[in-house]
Amino acid sequence: MKKLALITGSKGGIGSAISSKLVADGYRVIATYFTGNYQCALDWFNEKQFTEDQVRLFELDVTNTAECALSLSKLLEEEGTVDVLVNNAGITRDSVFKKMDAEAWKEVIETNLNSLFNVTQPLFAPMCEKGNCRVINISSVNGLKGQFGQTNYSAAKAGMIGFSKALAAEGARSGVTVNVIAPGYTATPMVEQMKPEVLDSIKNQIPMKRLATPVEIADAVGFLASESGAYITGETLSVNGGLYMH
Ligand code: CAA
Repeated sequence: MKKLALITGSKGGIGSAISSKLVADGYRVIATYFTGNYQCALDWFNEKQFTEDQVRLFELDVTNTAECALSLSKLLEEEGTVDVLVNNAGITRDSVFKKMDAEAWKEVIETNLNSLFNVTQPLFAPMCEKGNCRVINISSVNGLKGQFGQTNYSAAKAGMIGFSKALAAEGARSGVTVNVIAPGYTATPMVEQMKPEVLDSIKNQIPMKRLATPVEIADAVGFLASESGAYITGETLSVNGGLYMH
């Protein structure tokens, strides 16, 4: 039987690379997509030439607590325990704080942080019962260092780290590890939508003078998910080209 991995935001820049990596490593991947985006998810599935045995598309609004509880308990009945959960779904609503409205604050906290409760809560108890499972949360360099124009995003991404350490303490006795990957600026549509002059100035600050590739982030996820990661828990692994060394 294949091990089961669930990835939120699976067709985004980093999510797509993680899906491909875990499929290549032999997992069956439950790839969640946002409510109403089925066609888009199907196009991605076809483009990647996945088979239905490798990837199951799964509609999920990660900000909806009740929907997550219901849909994920059905998923558990149909597929069994999730061995590897990757909380990857995330958005930005960048603005200097003086101009930030409450919507931009709330949307980012709901999608990037509250989703960790919504998605992890229904899956965690079965993981602990089974043992040797993984929760991997995709944070950001900007959750570690803070970023101009991202009070909402930096707060949510830093919150993910505290959540992960606390949950790691709870999962440890069952062999369930909980870790964080903190990517730096990665070549994805999210980063490419930044103003070119802002992105150029950020690239200049990166000691390696380039963006990460999504595959470099996915490989770190693959490592933490593998047996080689079994004794690593409560950690934050930076993949940021030296942009921030903590
Ligand atoms: N530090 C200090 N001052 C800064 C600054 C910085 N890093 N960046 C800009 N400023 C200054 C500007 O020089 C400008 O000063 P003046 O008014 O004196 O000219 C002032 O702040 C306003 O800056 P902007 O012109 O940039 O303001 P804006 O309202 O047009 O844009 C912004 C604001 C959209 C937040 C823009 O600054 C921006 O895009 N910043 C980058 C945010 C960022 O890094 N986002 C990452 C997205 S990708 C991601 O999040 C993935 C991940 O995990 C890494």
